[in-house]
Amino acid sequence: MAIDFSQIPSPCYVLEEKLLRKNLELINRVQTESGAEIILALKGFSMYKMFPMVKKYLSGATASSLNEARLIVEEMGCLAHTYCPAYKPEEFEQILSYSSHISFNSMNQYKQFKSQVEKSEKKVSMGLRINPQYAEVSTDVYNPCVVGSRLGITREALGDTLPEGIEGLHSHTMCENDSYVLERTLVHIEEKFGDLLHQIKWLNLGGGHLMTREGYDHTHLISIIKRLKSTYNIDIILEPGSAIAWQTGYLRSRVLDIVDAQGIDVAILDISFAAHMPDTLEMPYKPKVWGATDAAQGKPTYRLGGMTCLAGDYMSEYSFEKPLEIGDTVIFDDMIHYTMVKTTTFNGVGLPSIGIWHEDDTFELVKSFGFESFKEKI
Ligand SMILES: Cc1ncc(COP(=O)(O)O)c(C=O)c1O
Repeated sequence: MAIDFSQIPSPCYVLEEKLLRKNLELINRVQTESGAEIILALKGFSMYKMFPMVKKYLSGATASSLNEARLIVEEMGCLAHTYCPAYKPEEFEQILSYSSHISFNSMNQYKQFKSQVEKSEKKVSMGLRINPQYAEVSTDVYNPCVVGSRLGITREALGDTLPEGIEGLHSHTMCENDSYVLERTLVHIEEKFGDLLHQIKWLNLGGGHLMTREGYDHTHLISIIKRLKSTYNIDIILEPGSAIAWQTGYLRSRVLDIVDAQGIDVAILDISFAAHMPDTLEMPYKPKVWGATDAAQGKPTYRLGGMTCLAGDYMSEYSFEKPLEIGDTVIFDDMIHYTMVKTTTFNGVGLPSIGIWHEDDTFELVKSFGFESFKEKI
């Protein structure tokens, strides 16, 4: 059944339950056939209303802060794999209590917190984030291996042997990549850290494995994981964020005004690219809009504008089958991962509501936000 937008407020992120389940089923197949542990990276998708479903298929979740670790414990009912570029001393005890695995970003941090981990009653497995100095990520802002990156320890900085108590290594260098990028990355990891892989219990290969994108070669990924497991006799952990919520829903918006901006027709919408879809400006990329194409001659064509006063809060240019009118619905596709987790109330703009289109074709409004949400954070 087609989605009935009259039931959905504007603006609203709408997650389609059946699409999330489809992704989770696929990822679970990879998990079962490869023997890897695949966990959700909360930084990409932390809509905890869906955690019970996520937990049915995946092994758990990874946190990059105390807040995320606590959310995993409270809403997913399991302990977190935690990695943070630097832990705050005043938060570390709590982080420990919420975690099964803790990875350190530097030798300093390992030295600072090692004894606290060892003293803890709960057994928490310690790891180190490594920097293999190889990534195939075209945008520097998403590349953890650019020269001068603060993320991870290079082989020179690590020295010849693993520090005492370290049971795992963590490497995150990928972004929306396929299994062939992983294979080429592993050449560098094994060249630089291969001797240490024989000494650890687990290797966390981070996120960026976009295994739910059409055309992804799952058989190849499974063979890579099996080879690693048997060569080094280690557990393999993958912690994708995007792949879990990839193409599972959209941002519903509405046309508020149409202005002629010195010859360019601009439809001003009740959303903001800066506040509600920041990756479109940061990466940058042009999101798909339902029923629209890139600018096409002879068709009604618009720049889509956000409702903040930021001059650059717009996206060019989209052609529609018929002219837009005030009140029309405009749907931005694939707006579930890295959106809700990144929203701001810049300019005081309201946060979009959050809803679920359920598998039985009913709509559930999970959250809507008002003045209090704005006031609370400023
Ligand atoms: C350490 C770490 N793990 C996992 C992820 C999730 O990556 P993705 O959402 O691209 O799969 C990220 C993303 O930045 C990350 O920094």
